[in-house]
Amino acid sequence: MIRVLFVCLGNICRSPMAEAVFRDMLVKANLTKLIEVDSGGIGGWHVGKIPHQGTRDILDQQNISYIGMKARQVSKKDWDDFNYIIAMDDQNIKDLQNINSQNTDIVVAKLMDFVEDAKEREVPDPYYTGKFDYTYELVMEGCSKLLSYIREKHNI
Ligand code: 4NP
Repeated sequence: MIRVLFVCLGNICRSPMAEAVFRDMLVKANLTKLIEVDSGGIGGWHVGKIPHQGTRDILDQQNISYIGMKARQVSKKDWDDFNYIIAMDDQNIKDLQNINSQNTDIVVAKLMDFVEDAKEREVPDPYYTGKFDYTYELVMEGCSKLLSYIREKHNI
């Protein structure tokens, strides 16, 4: 099993959006038995909460399920449980390095690293920008490229 963890600051806007979008892609590609997905936040302020209204609205519009998803905080144990830890911005990467600075075999990268010639190098935080549509556009593109990368890498 290949395990992917999406990470953002609060785990209520960007990373749950990425988790839901990526899972939807796995379902459509019939890959849910080979690849698993989850999300977590650097901060613990929203632990237990469902995704932000703005994230739910855009997922509803796109008919993408977020059933059962609840915010949780990232912990060092996640480095044992996941093969890919995919962050939204540079600060997330710094914070992740503070949680676990050891070199491991797992891939820790930003979602937009998988998109060549991306409009953005980071996924802007809609909690502050209010632009959930634009975040969705970037998350879609990033998840699609990430899935292609993983499929090629693991021959699936
Ligand atoms: P997210 O957005 O990292 O995309 O989930 C945020 C949500 C909440 C907070 C910050 C960012 N907050 O500070 O509560």
